Amino acid sequence: MLSEKITSALNEQMKWEMYSANLYLAMSAYFSDVGLHGFANWMRIQYQEETDHALKFYDFVLSRGGAAKLSAIDEPPAQWANALEAFKAAAAHEAEVTRRINELVHLAKAEYDFATDVFLQWFVTEQVEEEESVKNIIDRLKLVNGEGQGLLMLDNDAAARVYTPPANSAA
Ligand code: FEO
Repeated sequence: MLSEKITSALNEQMKWEMYSANLYLAMSAYFSDVGLHGFANWMRIQYQEETDHALKFYDFVLSRGGAAKLSAIDEPPAQWANALEAFKAAAAHEAEVTRRINELVHLAKAEYDFATDVFLQWFVTEQVEEEESVKNIIDRLKLVNGEGQGLLMLDNDAAARVYTPPANSAA
């Protein structure tokens, strides 16, 4: 059985993952609008992955006998100056997600809730991948100064990304 404190913290993270999903869908819409359809595809898949993350928290709370509580999600921005700025915003966002996951792990351990700790380890690993994949794109955008043929080549690469549902975890 989950404590009220842990339930509330998990529900807050579920909301944060839903905000992440909306943020990336907003970025996808932005990229579609400026004709960078590969990056739009990349961000749309990111949206799907974040929705999966939110559902993992939802399912876990329910599986532990807690109440999954949905609450209002902030409106994400809709515009970025260019592709590099959008990916920099994604990197900053993922750094904040990592900080929040780490806080959750700390809380679970402090409360002797080791089942929640084990559940959260999937996200600890996932955040390493999330931060790395965004950093790789930022590094490459910088190499081409975020413009011209290089930008179109990177957009083309991003078009190849395909959605893979998460493997079953402790969730
Ligand atoms: Fe669910 Fe991108 O963190």
